[in-house]
Amino acid sequence: MALQGLPALRTLDLSHNPLVSVAAGAFAGAPLLRTLQLNQALLAAPLEEQLAPALRNLSLRRLELAGNGLRALPAALLPAGLEELDLRNNSLQRLAAAELRSLEAPGLRGLRLTLGANPLSCDCALRPFLAWLRAAAAARVPDARGLRCAGPPPLRGANLLRLRPEGLACAAAEGGEPGRLETASYVFFGIVLALIGIVFLMVLYLNRRGIKRWLHNLREACRDQMEGYHYRYEQDADPRKHTILPLPSRSDVLF
Ligand SMILES: *[C@@H]1O[C@H](CO)[C@@H](O)[C@H](O)[C@H]1NC(C)=O
Ligand SMILES: *[C@@H]1O[C@H](CO)[C@@H](O)[C@H](O)[C@H]1NC(C)=O
Repeated sequence: MALQGLPALRTLDLSHNPLVSVAAGAFAGAPLLRTLQLNQALLAAPLEEQLAPALRNLSLRRLELAGNGLRALPAALLPAGLEELDLRNNSLQRLAAAELRSLEAPGLRGLRLTLGANPLSCDCALRPFLAWLRAAAAARVPDARGLRCAGPPPLRGANLLRLRPEGLACAAAEGGEPGRLETASYVFFGIVLALIGIVFLMVLYLNRRGIKRWLHNLREACRDQMEGYHYRYEQDADPRKHTILPLPSRSDVLF
């Protein structure tokens, strides 16, 4: 309610205040607010969800969110008609394809955003953003010429606009393209299995005499066993001596 009774307020700077919570109607008393500065103000708590309803009804033209450790475009915080968005010095590695699409929504087509001092990661995941940047550069991102890669190491410090989207490689160590990696590991697994199979067959081949002898011994042992069984069976063939079959009862015998 701090802004109630300030209907002509046009610029509000809350930067460097460690905001912990924001009420949904926090700015409702300042309908003419056009510039809101929240630089380094969202570090104490994750406030994006709380800020979204507070900003929804405003006709902001400029929103400053520098130095807030943001990892993604805070699309929910961007009221229609916003013209300038300061996202410098955050933790953005890229803008994903879905985020770029949200910037093309009817209410945000006129939006310009500054993105300097973010740790942009120049791998293949940056391709959509780089393509968008090269097509839209000066109009949408005023500081595009100053954007530099923070990684991977070979590209650190490289000027983003000098790179080609199709030239950005996928870093295998950072996940890379899982599909290709998976195929490679399956092929490797198959080769290992084939080697094990070949070794097994070779061991069998080299030991063929031993195996033949072993089979022979086994057969001999079986035969001995069978003969013993046969002998015992013959001995027990007399039904009166047979222990497993029940002896016929008297009635059975009458039938
Ligand atoms: C937004 O504005 C509409 C009308 O302009 C109003 O009815 C509504 O209560 C407002 N919402 C908030 C959260 O201020
Ligand atoms: C960038 O933001 C961090 C907080 O996220 C802050 O400590 C640092 O001073 C900022 N740097 C500049 C140059 O504003």
